[in-house]
Amino acid sequence: MKKILILNGPNLNLLGVREKGIYGDQSFEVYFEALKSKFSDLELHYFQSNSEGAIVDKLHEVGFSFDGVVLNAGAYTHTSVAIADAIAAINTAVVEVHISNVHQREEFRHHSYLSKNCKGVILGFGFDSYRLGLESFKND
Ligand code: DQA
Repeated sequence: MKKILILNGPNLNLLGVREKGIYGDQSFEVYFEALKSKFSDLELHYFQSNSEGAIVDKLHEVGFSFDGVVLNAGAYTHTSVAIADAIAAINTAVVEVHISNVHQREEFRHHSYLSKNCKGVILGFGFDSYRLGLESFKND
């Protein structure tokens, strides 16, 4: 069975509470349970951290054994050379996802340091962006 990690970055622990007009009213933990039932043919893991270093550490930890990472790095997408370098350093393919369509938002959200090192990018489909990210690994 393929092992896939969903990795959420800063402030994504507050999904369901935070800026509901942009991010919806569902908590990620509840959604993750639904994903696990839907993708019973994948071994799904979930990790969230608000710390850049913890995200880098997690990528190192899974990046030589897992089959894929679905990464929403939150605001670090737009700032983090360290996470971009970690994605480049590991063997596991990473798909970048965003809940919102960042291109419809502030200018500073239009640039991602991560995309260049990712297998692909999915954004703007709400929580469904994560499902689409997982689908991409099923078809590998
Ligand atoms: C986000 C978009 C980022 O710009 C923002 O900082 C987030 C969430 C998204 O999923 O739409 O925290 O990655």
